[in-house]
Amino acid sequence: MWSVGGLRDIESRADCERLVTAFYERALEDPLIGFFFVDVAKIDLDEHIPVVASFWETILLGTRTYTGGAFGPHAALHMRAELQAGHFERWLVLWRTAVDEHFAGPRAELAKEHALRVAAAFLRRLRSIPAGEPGDGFVVSLHGPAGSG
Ligand code: HEM
Ligand code: HEM
Repeated sequence: MWSVGGLRDIESRADCERLVTAFYERALEDPLIGFFFVDVAKIDLDEHIPVVASFWETILLGTRTYTGGAFGPHAALHMRAELQAGHFERWLVLWRTAVDEHFAGPRAELAKEHALRVAAAFLRRLRSIPAGEPGDGFVVSLHGPAGSG
């Protein structure tokens, strides 16, 4: 078994779930991208984590538990609140941090590499889709009553 600094590699669905859970603990609270999950998509983690774990299980362990179509929800998200390059960069930092904190080895490296590829592909494909307002998910209440400026 590959082991670096006491960390082992991603080996099971449970590992994928642990990784995804660790990622969302940070992502939901992140000042730059948290609102996409919390305010715009209002994701239910109990439903969402198993889906994203299947995505990674399929890529890293070859299980085919995820049947594809990951881009679609991001296109819908982007139409409501613009997904910008900086958001993807932040997403990738949080993802690499979650991977490196918990795992080390060839699959951990692949998890980081594949995320970079998918993020680049998503960002490129989003350019041909109309964007929502930046930060559209926020309830901005600093300007007094609605309409006053
Ligand atoms: C172990 C082999 C691999 C597996 C099992 C795998 C699996 C997947 C899966 C399940 C998706 C999501 C597809 C969707 O939701 O529509 C995906 C997306 C993607 N993969 Fe891989 N992948 C592998 C290797 C690679 C390699 C070698 C590359 C490039 C060199 C790559 C580049 C991409 C890109 C760019 C996307 C995003 C496509 C898009 O939505 O535009 N993958 N992959
Ligand atoms: C700033 C960047 C990103 C944001 C804000 C974001 C946000 C979200 C949100 C809100 C959902 C739930 C959508 C819904 O069901 O209503 C979602 C789904 C998902 N995201 Fe992302 N995402 C980002 C980047 C990525 C990247 C780079 C990947 C892959 C490497 C990814 C993988 C997934 C997958 C697999 C799903 C589940 C899709 C499905 O339901 O089949 N996301 N994302």
